[in-house]
Amino acid sequence: MQYKENSAFSYQAGELFVEDVPVKEIAAIVGTPVLIYSKTFFKQQYSAFTSAFAAISPRVFYASKANFNTAVIRTFVEAGSGVDVNSAGELYRALQAGAKPRNIVFAGVGKTDAEITYGLEQEVFLFKSESREEVAAINRLAHDAGKTANVALRVNPDVDPKTHPYISTSLANNKFGISFDEAKGILTCGEFSNIRFTGLDMHLGSQITTTAPYIEAVKKLAVLLFELREAGVHLTHLDLGGGFGVSYQPGEPEFDFSELPGQLAEILLPLNVTVFFEPGRFLTANGGILLTKVLYTKANGNKKFAIVDAGMTDLMRPVLYNAYHHIQPVSCQSGAEFEYDIVGPVCESSDFFAKSRLLPELGKDTLLAVCSTGAYTDVMGSNYNARLRPPEILVEGSNFKTIRRREKLEDLLRLEV
Ligand code: LLP
Repeated sequence: MQYKENSAFSYQAGELFVEDVPVKEIAAIVGTPVLIYSKTFFKQQYSAFTSAFAAISPRVFYASKANFNTAVIRTFVEAGSGVDVNSAGELYRALQAGAKPRNIVFAGVGKTDAEITYGLEQEVFLFKSESREEVAAINRLAHDAGKTANVALRVNPDVDPKTHPYISTSLANNKFGISFDEAKGILTCGEFSNIRFTGLDMHLGSQITTTAPYIEAVKKLAVLLFELREAGVHLTHLDLGGGFGVSYQPGEPEFDFSELPGQLAEILLPLNVTVFFEPGRFLTANGGILLTKVLYTKANGNKKFAIVDAGMTDLMRPVLYNAYHHIQPVSCQSGAEFEYDIVGPVCESSDFFAKSRLLPELGKDTLLAVCSTGAYTDVMGSNYNARLRPPEILVEGSNFKTIRRREKLEDLLRLEV
């Protein structure tokens, strides 16, 4: 089998390390399942991203939905990032993590009055809005609060990002964004006196692996921006969203940034607007593993199963998107390989991490690393089957700390009255 390694997760003398810490040591101290993140990797990805786009000097807002542990958000805030939040809960987390309201953008296709009010009270930098009715709600609530809110309109460029349908957001029939005509109507009607319209926003989808959809969409947005200027509407920024794909298979390349920044510069520099990005997955996915232990192995029919102590409650992506996550033993093993289904203890046939995956012989207590689980893993977790949420550990160099403890049985009842 192939082992997946990167600057943070590597094998030394046949043992998986995260930075300078043997993964085994973390398992011995905090048990399994456990999510382990590399702080150095997060910082490296952030600087790789900002250097890649140096030609257009963008403002970056970490999309906290990818991993909203406050220690993770704080890592990006300390690196100089703003934060993109998608709910009152994410806004609360960003503020607790030390983000300044002026560096927070509040997105979301349906914000409640309470969420908008919270954003106004905290004085977030701007709201992104994607319906006329929500724009009217922001205007009304800003008026009641005696404020003027910055708003960027999320438009739908009707471009196919060529990714999984559940994470495509930019086709005309998706729920996201508004049409260019609707945007023009909102921006020129003069009805929203408590709003300052500041920019246009788009987000194509997630785990995008090619440059072409970005270019196609940005060209359309550039025309819209130009037409709006002709109509007397002057916007100062263009938010191009996130979506940059990462490698899930060993040896698979990450999003190729060699051409996009130059191509974007050509289109955008003449427009004299500030460019925003909201990457999530690119910054975090490969900075995390889900460490799990084999509880039992068995064979049913002609299939071999390894039943592990993590489940779909800890990582939903395989069942939800048929997503591939590489799985590898923490201690390298040579010898014969077998096809296993790696499954969890939840009472659902959908509770699997991998099907027919070639792995060395697994036995009780074998430690397995489920790779690329720094993004969209814990944030999508649940307590189904009244399972306890795993702890989260942040490693830096030879130090590691618990950034969320393991849930206890009594935590399960804390909201019940
Ligand atoms: N901006 C907006 C408006 C978004 O909706 C998203 C992700 C991002 C930025 C960040 O996108 P990224 O750079 O992470 O691709 N749960 C799915 C992914 C859902 C993405 C939702 N929106 C998954 O596990 O693949």
